[in-house]
Amino acid sequence: MALREIRKEGDPVLAKLCKPVKEITPRITELIEDMFDTMYEGNGCGLAACQVGVLRQIFVVDIGDDNQYVFINPQITEMEGEVTDEEGCLSIPGYVGTVTRAQKIKVVAFDEELKPFEMEAEDFLARAIQHEFDHLSGHLYTEKVEGELRKAVPQEEDGVPLAENTEEA
Ligand code: NI
Repeated sequence: MALREIRKEGDPVLAKLCKPVKEITPRITELIEDMFDTMYEGNGCGLAACQVGVLRQIFVVDIGDDNQYVFINPQITEMEGEVTDEEGCLSIPGYVGTVTRAQKIKVVAFDEELKPFEMEAEDFLARAIQHEFDHLSGHLYTEKVEGELRKAVPQEEDGVPLAENTEEA
């Protein structure tokens, strides 16, 4: 397993546009593996390539539903409903904020073999995807936060968050 350095808020790389992936090279495959490792190490549920300094349209998501989602060159094609909830970001460690997102979305993207797929997502999975999708165009959730950022609830020693909704994406 290989961990990469997570870029923090204020790093100019987080404000840049990511470029589409045209082919899967060994470097891209390694990047995706490292992104999962880095995300798990940070107890996050999503990570975009720009957060480890690579300006490509790639993000990974794992919300604990036994799926490791990889999204390459994604497009959100439908958005429906609204849900207001708490979210965080591995690039802004230790904080959470309240953000309103679409409750249900439809996404078209390519997987880690550059095969196209389409999926629907709701609730927390939809939130994680929307959060990561924003990273690809240089946007952070802080731009959408309602009110102030709050200190995240401290974690237990075994890494289990005290508050169920405290996730860092
Ligand atoms: Ni984030």
